[in-house]
Amino acid sequence: MGGQSDKWVLMVTAQTPTNIAVIKYWGKRDETLILPINDSISVTLDPDHLCTTTTVAVSPSFDQDRMWLNGKEISLLGGRFQSCLRELRSRASDFEDEKRGIKIKKADWEKLNLHIASYNNFPTAAGLASSAAGLACFVFALAKLMNLKEDHSQLSAIARQGSGSACRSLYGGFVKWIMGKEENGSDSIAVQLADEKHWDDLVIVIAVVSARQKETSSTSGMQDSCKTSMLIQHRAKEVVPKRVIQMEEAIEKRDFPSFARLACADSNQFHAVCLDTSPPIFYMNDTSHKIISCVEKWNRSEESPQVAYTFDAGPNAVMIARNRKTAALLLQRLLFHFPPHSDTDLNSYVIGDKSILQDVG
Ligand code: DP6
Repeated sequence: MGGQSDKWVLMVTAQTPTNIAVIKYWGKRDETLILPINDSISVTLDPDHLCTTTTVAVSPSFDQDRMWLNGKEISLLGGRFQSCLRELRSRASDFEDEKRGIKIKKADWEKLNLHIASYNNFPTAAGLASSAAGLACFVFALAKLMNLKEDHSQLSAIARQGSGSACRSLYGGFVKWIMGKEENGSDSIAVQLADEKHWDDLVIVIAVVSARQKETSSTSGMQDSCKTSMLIQHRAKEVVPKRVIQMEEAIEKRDFPSFARLACADSNQFHAVCLDTSPPIFYMNDTSHKIISCVEKWNRSEESPQVAYTFDAGPNAVMIARNRKTAALLLQRLLFHFPPHSDTDLNSYVIGDKSILQDVG
């Protein structure tokens, strides 16, 4: 290991956008490997608006693995980071930089320590899929640094072990996480259904209703749902398999009315499962409900739906408008119903379109 001196540092920086599920993942059949009870489908967002940027570094002078999130040191001891690090280190390859005299053998990666600095350009743990972007970026940046030969699908299976939804952020555009059948999770991977150029007239508008951290994490919420909800089994076995097929078809044909109907129904059923959990989980608040009513009313007043809405494990609304004109009308309506400084807790809007993961050097 090393070269003329042991003072070298190798660094990689990557940027990974978050993704928003239009057919939701909720419930695991294996907690350690993070294997879901149903397939899910998501849209990857524009990295200019919601993304994680992570710089990873390796040096013989680092005496332990360390990580910082938004400038604050966090523990890497949690099982999820360790699962990803274990997988990554075991697949790392030899690395050589002749100019700088740096040579790292495959086995050296087990001994070398890493420093990881990650930054989210949006609120962490507020139901905007921060863990998805964070863990995907963690895995993608380290895979580059450690010279892994795995393709994005194989990397998605590593990211999945950090946070389920993270596996879908390894691709841009429309992505499906296949639940898989194998006990070891080898076939529980993300695949790209269509790239970011497909259906590029869609515009995503996010209403940040609250930037506060949610009270019930997705991990514990879905554990409680699996233990106590009867609806979740019906959803996973009867409803989602059919919806996934219909959603794939809607995406392929750019069929907005079907896309909107399926996305809204799936978000509402996911929140119904949360209410069917004991004790019930309330991720949405009054403002979220008002946004749903406003969009539903508008959609019903038109010949066909103009906007789809979906809510993850938090009150923030993700709305998908069929084109730019509709997005402008949507913003007009939102500003009318939820004016700034009103008594609702809606505080900002983020607008973007679908995009891709970037390796920034
Ligand atoms: C509501 O991926 O955060 O956003 O696998 O336990 O880390 P863990 O959960 P996480 O759950 C995301 C749930 C969701 C729906 C979705 O993104 O599909």
